[in-house]
Amino acid sequence: MKKIVVSTGAGISAESGLSTFRDSGGLWDKYPVMDVASLDGFMRNPALVHEFYNQRRREALKCQPNAGHLGLKELEQWFDVRVITQNVDNLHEKAGSTHVLHLHGELMKIRSMKREDRVYTLTPDNLETSVDTRDEYGDPVRPHIVFFQEAVPNFEKAVEWVREADIFVVIGTSLNVYPAASLLMYVRPGTPIYYIDPNPAKIPMGAENVTIIKKKAGEGVPELVELLRSQL
Ligand code: APR
Repeated sequence: MKKIVVSTGAGISAESGLSTFRDSGGLWDKYPVMDVASLDGFMRNPALVHEFYNQRRREALKCQPNAGHLGLKELEQWFDVRVITQNVDNLHEKAGSTHVLHLHGELMKIRSMKREDRVYTLTPDNLETSVDTRDEYGDPVRPHIVFFQEAVPNFEKAVEWVREADIFVVIGTSLNVYPAASLLMYVRPGTPIYYIDPNPAKIPMGAENVTIIKKKAGEGVPELVELLRSQL
């Protein structure tokens, strides 16, 4: 089976009702990013950061996958599909995608501040954390999110996936944040790249064979599914 590797950003979840970050009215218009999504910010005011992620969990709970997420699941009938996402929501998992790799963490997970290997999954009836939350060992916890100024532990694995791709797809990301934005530079020469975004960012220098589908994910992904199926 041919391998399709997909790199998604906040844009694929926009039609499910989740705010993007840098579109007008996005999250970074409402919150100073370095206060709520950086390690400095968390150390300075952990209560604010806990509440920011509590609020995003409450919003995410109400959301369902859209035709963009579902189209990637549909592709699994004919391709080996690997999804690398910058998103912390679990809409790819809800859509049924089999291989999902989160680069920036997972909203519904928290972890011990003493042992980063102790990761806990929150449930819909137990979504909120605070500076007083303790895990089973009595240790304080933090969102299982990669803050700005922190390493991206899954990046090496993501690069391995991209290197094996026969087709690479980028959906709904402004290609602003590294190292995620650099993934398309790791495709093997000659690998076709498709970029689905209604307001596509400038393609980084050196990227070749890029086809831009200037559409929202909900329309662009089903269109790409049909195109790839017709080429089988
Ligand atoms: N369908 C597809 N793409 C869309 C849609 C849509 N319906 N609506 C908006 N977009 C596109 C925008 O045009 C933009 O290119 O989604 C992209 C959103 O860009 P950002 O808001 O910058 O989100 P993202 O690229 O995922 O941000 C990367 O930044 O703040 C950090 O950790 C955070 O993972 C996030 C990272």
